[in-house]
Amino acid sequence: MKNYSVLFVCLGNICRSPTAHGVFRHMLAGHGLSDAVSVDSAGTSNYHPNSPPDARSQAHAAKRGYDLSDLRARQIQAADFETFDLILVMDWDNLTQVKQTCPPRHQHKVRRLSEFSLQFDSPVVADPYFGGVEGFERVLDLVEDASEGLLRHVRAQVT
Ligand code: 4NP
Repeated sequence: MKNYSVLFVCLGNICRSPTAHGVFRHMLAGHGLSDAVSVDSAGTSNYHPNSPPDARSQAHAAKRGYDLSDLRARQIQAADFETFDLILVMDWDNLTQVKQTCPPRHQHKVRRLSEFSLQFDSPVVADPYFGGVEGFERVLDLVEDASEGLLRHVRAQVT
């Protein structure tokens, strides 16, 4: 089996991208793909260096069986463009920011997570940070759905 790597990126790396990180690694484990596929997450900002995920993201994720407590925030760095096969952003701002710093030869790696959605047609996973509980549930709904589509894509890369 080949190896493949995915980096999830949002603004703060404390809400959306750690949620995607936790959901997708859980799904990979369930399909016996943890050794073949590495997963990480990062923020375009350095607002929350080394912070655990937002308590609200952790609580909503835990209700669906995902443990995010070991994750720590970091900013995306130049080496990530070399390291990762796929860099999946959550919204249009993230896309602009990441594409601005990504070398031309790696631009094709930068895509929106929502491109892998199966049920939902939202083009973005919106920032829940300044909103209410519905926003955090919406993040989980969108991330779970897109992760199913992403799993199909990734499986085809490693088998
Ligand atoms: P995230 O959400 O990008 O999904 O992690 C945010 C977290 C923190 C801030 C903004 C968005 N902030 O402004 O601190």
